[in-house]
Amino acid sequence: MTEPSFIHRFLPGTDTLRHPLLLLHGTGGNEDDLIPVGEMIDPAAAILSPRGNVLEHGMPRFFRRLAEGVFDYPDVIARTHELADFITEQTIAHANKKPIAVGFSNGANIAAALLYLRPEVLAGAVLIRAMLPLPTGPEHTLGGLPVMIVSGRMDPILPLDNAKRLAEALRAHGATVDHRVLETGHGITRNDVDLARGFIAGING
Ligand code: MLT
Repeated sequence: MTEPSFIHRFLPGTDTLRHPLLLLHGTGGNEDDLIPVGEMIDPAAAILSPRGNVLEHGMPRFFRRLAEGVFDYPDVIARTHELADFITEQTIAHANKKPIAVGFSNGANIAAALLYLRPEVLAGAVLIRAMLPLPTGPEHTLGGLPVMIVSGRMDPILPLDNAKRLAEALRAHGATVDHRVLETGHGITRNDVDLARGFIAGING
């Protein structure tokens, strides 16, 4: 067995019929960060939580950027495939149930990139504070894949207009997108957790 390509945590959960949660942290976070959030969103689900492989001044991220909101697109593409391959290995190793991504900020942006390039590895996605991950795409038809985007109207880092364009791009390629706008800024709030919980309960049925 080769070493997994991401430092990560896996918590088995209590209900293997539910989709695992794939937790994707923001810049400067790690694999521990979103676990309390995941446990609030779906306490019975397994959790897979990788740490981003890129370091920006010592802060983990999922891909390189040239400046705030200016992404290194070749790196986005390479890192997205690396993450998708890791998810596939982990899915096969753990009950073969595709995860639902729950990403925050940089984690939401790599989750959006997965939807653009490798949507087959996910059962759905909740993107908390996301923007367009790539200039063109998605590359595939998304076949009704359920996606929730939660934006903060006062978010100075991820502008609402950009998130609206992401929602439109995903819809145009066949995703079922529920875009919510909270009267808040960049940080995760209780309302984000409540929206994600309801959305994911709907996917699990
Ligand atoms: C990104 O780089 O993905 C976004 O600007 C959000 C962040 O600051 O991480």
